[in-house]
Amino acid sequence: MSKEATLQFEGKEFKLPVIVGTEGEKALDVRNLRAQTGAITYDDGFGNTGSCLSEITFIDGDAGVLRYRGHAIEDLAEHSSFVETAYLIIHGNLPNSAERRRFGDLLRLHSPVHSAMDHLFEGFPLGSHPMAILSALLNSLGCYYPHLATNRPTEDLANFEEASAIAISKVRTIAAMSYRKSRGLPYIYPKRTLPYCENFLHMMFSQPYEDFVPTPEVAQALNLFLLLHADHEQNCSTSTVRMVASSGANLFASVAAGVCALWGPLHGGANMAVIEMLESIHAEGDDGSKFIEAARSGKAGHRLMGFGHRVYRNYDPRAKIIKASFDKALASLGIKDDPLLQIARRLEEVALRDDYFLSRRLYPNVDFYSGLIMRALGIPQNMFTVMFAIGRMPGWIAHWKEVASNPKNKIYRPRQVYTGAVRRPFVPMAERP
Ligand code: CMC
Repeated sequence: MSKEATLQFEGKEFKLPVIVGTEGEKALDVRNLRAQTGAITYDDGFGNTGSCLSEITFIDGDAGVLRYRGHAIEDLAEHSSFVETAYLIIHGNLPNSAERRRFGDLLRLHSPVHSAMDHLFEGFPLGSHPMAILSALLNSLGCYYPHLATNRPTEDLANFEEASAIAISKVRTIAAMSYRKSRGLPYIYPKRTLPYCENFLHMMFSQPYEDFVPTPEVAQALNLFLLLHADHEQNCSTSTVRMVASSGANLFASVAAGVCALWGPLHGGANMAVIEMLESIHAEGDDGSKFIEAARSGKAGHRLMGFGHRVYRNYDPRAKIIKASFDKALASLGIKDDPLLQIARRLEEVALRDDYFLSRRLYPNVDFYSGLIMRALGIPQNMFTVMFAIGRMPGWIAHWKEVASNPKNKIYRPRQVYTGAVRRPFVPMAERP
């Protein structure tokens, strides 16, 4: 294959180098385009733009393939755990037993939050959204650990192991505390003896007078949910993390920005939006047919939430795994007839036969069934997106590190095509219409 592409523009020819990734993905290198031609590229929503070279996650959206550091998501879902996969994503390889032990010890060590942080939670009004609290508190970690948040990448990288363990461990503690705060419940502190997921469920659901002990199936379902969300290359929140990191900002500030980007209903908020959609279909007595009819408009407010994806033009492999594990999880929880699940299954069945969805290659994404799993596990609805954030933390951390340790790092600074008013005179207030 030629290592160059030729661009004809305004009567001249320009050579664009071709970059080929390890999985054969091709990219035209336009880094010198503006200098050579005076023109920039225009790509609304960045759907055709490679913003970086990355070694972390590979997705083939047409084939429905997802791999973390070369490992198929199906293999990890079957054989690994969230914590082990987090290590893989952050450090590049699966840990040996000593590395895994050390990682676990660090997570246990950092599971409690500084007692002064309790006062930060107190400052939020009752009913505050846990995503707002999570983002604010993650950012504040830089104040409690100033030596890990110098905003000088070389120094922050020197303490990366500690900072990354703090972020992974404390996101779970802060998430549980923000839930308890939003319900006016007393905080439950982490237990060092419990594994990652069990500890989270303990902090969420134990009472001062009684420990909550999940069944192994519930802990396993949560483990799987987190593992499946651990990274997804350059999605909206990860690109946000990389953008913030590109200015040299510390890990905590960068991942806090990721939480904000994740919050919206087109991204992580979709798992909550799916349940709201299913509930409203159920309340209207519709079996899904009327909703599908309206969803064909593709308009906001009518979209079939949990369907479609910028990258997957096929069944999202994560949705496949979640769907397959669903029946087992429901059986272990003793849930037989969930009307929302029946509506979801009907929506999927109808949409996958419908020309509108087929022609646009809209298939279920990870959020279509993940909200239902969370609901079955007893996770409250306003925590769904927070659960996504806990799962995505390893990915955000790995991408922060990739940016911070890149000796050729360039600050992210896209250009624009200006379409506003051309220069016009200043009119004094008295003369304005
Ligand atoms: N329901 C109905 N129509 C849709 C849907 C949908 N869920 N998604 C896309 N379309 C239509 C859209 O109207 C457009 O039609 P037309 O070509 O006639 O104008 C066409 O499909 C292409 O849509 P798009 O908005 O250009 O696609 P996109 O790549 O910009 O958006 C998306 C991707 C995920 C934002 C979108 O599919 C969507 O809004 N889905 C529902 C929200 C959702 O489930 N989000 C979770 C994404 S997966 C988890 C994550 O990574 O965050």
